[in-house]
Amino acid sequence: MTPLWTPDGPDLVVEADNAHVLPLLPDQAFQVVYLDPPFNTGRRQSRTPLRTTRSASGHRIGFAGRSYDVVKGATTSYDDDFADYWAFLEPRLEQARRLLAPTGTLYLHLDYREVHYAKVLLDALFGRDHFLNEIVWAYDYGARTKRRWPAKHDTILVYVKDPARYHFDAEAVDREPYLAPGLVTPEKAARGKLPTDVWWHTIVSPTGREKTGYPTQKPLGILRRIVAASSRPGDWVLDFFAGSGTTGAAAAELGRRFVCVDSNPDAIAVMRRRFADAGVPAAFVTPGPEAAPASAAPDEARAERARHVAHLRRAVEVSRTSRAHGNTPFGALLVGPDGGVLLEQENIEITERVCTGHAEATLAARASQLYDKEFLWRCTLYTTAEPCAMCSGAIYWANIGRVVYAMTERRLLELTGVHEQNPTFDLPCRTVFGAGQKAIEVLGPFGEVEDEAATVHEGYW
Ligand SMILES: C[S@@+](CC[C@H](N)C(=O)[O-])C[C@H]1O[C@@H](n2cnc3c(N)ncnc32)[C@H](O)[C@@H]1O
Ligand SMILES: [Zn+2]
Repeated sequence: MTPLWTPDGPDLVVEADNAHVLPLLPDQAFQVVYLDPPFNTGRRQSRTPLRTTRSASGHRIGFAGRSYDVVKGATTSYDDDFADYWAFLEPRLEQARRLLAPTGTLYLHLDYREVHYAKVLLDALFGRDHFLNEIVWAYDYGARTKRRWPAKHDTILVYVKDPARYHFDAEAVDREPYLAPGLVTPEKAARGKLPTDVWWHTIVSPTGREKTGYPTQKPLGILRRIVAASSRPGDWVLDFFAGSGTTGAAAAELGRRFVCVDSNPDAIAVMRRRFADAGVPAAFVTPGPEAAPASAAPDEARAERARHVAHLRRAVEVSRTSRAHGNTPFGALLVGPDGGVLLEQENIEITERVCTGHAEATLAARASQLYDKEFLWRCTLYTTAEPCAMCSGAIYWANIGRVVYAMTERRLLELTGVHEQNPTFDLPCRTVFGAGQKAIEVLGPFGEVEDEAATVHEGYW
């Protein structure tokens, strides 16, 4: 079966609901994703389902590994219409992130009414350190109310896939005239200044050359800047709320490749005319129901779970050596943001005569001697058994952002019974974290490893 898109194929215009198209595109294929979704008009959005990634506990995982659900619950509770709008956008944004190249950038164009809710949610979803800019596009057109300051701007939120690797070329962008050219040298005044995050740009003039007749058409000048700054010639650019195809037109002008998706036949008709007039040989396609996913989202969720299971298996190994060394059978790992194992820790209670020497508390203390809190917030602690109240406290104070465990504290209690070496609490770690002030994410139990974790305890207690 031929794939919908290949990196050496033609520029593409796809007529379909983007929910059906996005799973057909492969991971990391696009350097820039620009999205100008329909504004939340208070009407229900089309609700074509697109699966989101859920953790073992059923909670949505923010890409930053934080408790995105907590933020979402609080944010969307203010406004039903926005909650509905976000339910439409969220899975599409998740796909956008998957499709971004490691050096890629997402531009999300929003109305001033939605942008603040969206910013809070995107910070939780992408991670605050992935936020690059809030671009204000200011224009000057149409009637002016006298009841308040007339709203004459849109906002574009900018998030990068990887804050350490993203591409940004300020010099590639058109320059602007100085507001006070008399205050700078004539050479500087002639060259103009680098644009800031506030862009003054007229809307598409209803009588101008650029006009396609599509009601929500955005100016080429805005898209040119975005594409020029955040991609290189030959890179692929994606817009899956394409409308009149402004993103495609800017990409083609600048020697970039593009995929434009829109579900509205009028938009497709406008793009057909626009690209033909500009001499851009794009291929127009409508994917049939037999189209094959290039990389389906559920696969990614499965791969993520498999990574957790592999780390938990390693922790079980550590618990085995702990027992072999004469300690209680518990093991824990610290895993960095890139998935690499940083530390391993056995229980040390008996041999070292440390009453607080549980694997997790000991690991948390070692971790805080080696790494700063900001880094540890992006790390994960894997442990064979759910952390007890003491260890949860240690994890909390170490500022480790995520905990993944194989078997519950309760199952452990069933195994140990009323044993004097381990008179553990009957207190879920989520309850301990829930009483704190930061959203530590907890995943577990993991049925795949629970029995293996329990086996190490057999005959011990
Ligand atoms: C605000 S317009 C985009 C305008 C575009 N930036 C331009 O310059 O012309 C939003 C577009 O999203 C399209 N759209 C809305 N829901 C969609 C969906 N689920 N799948 C694909 N396109 C969709 C609409 O048909 C509309 O053309
Ligand atoms: Zn403990």
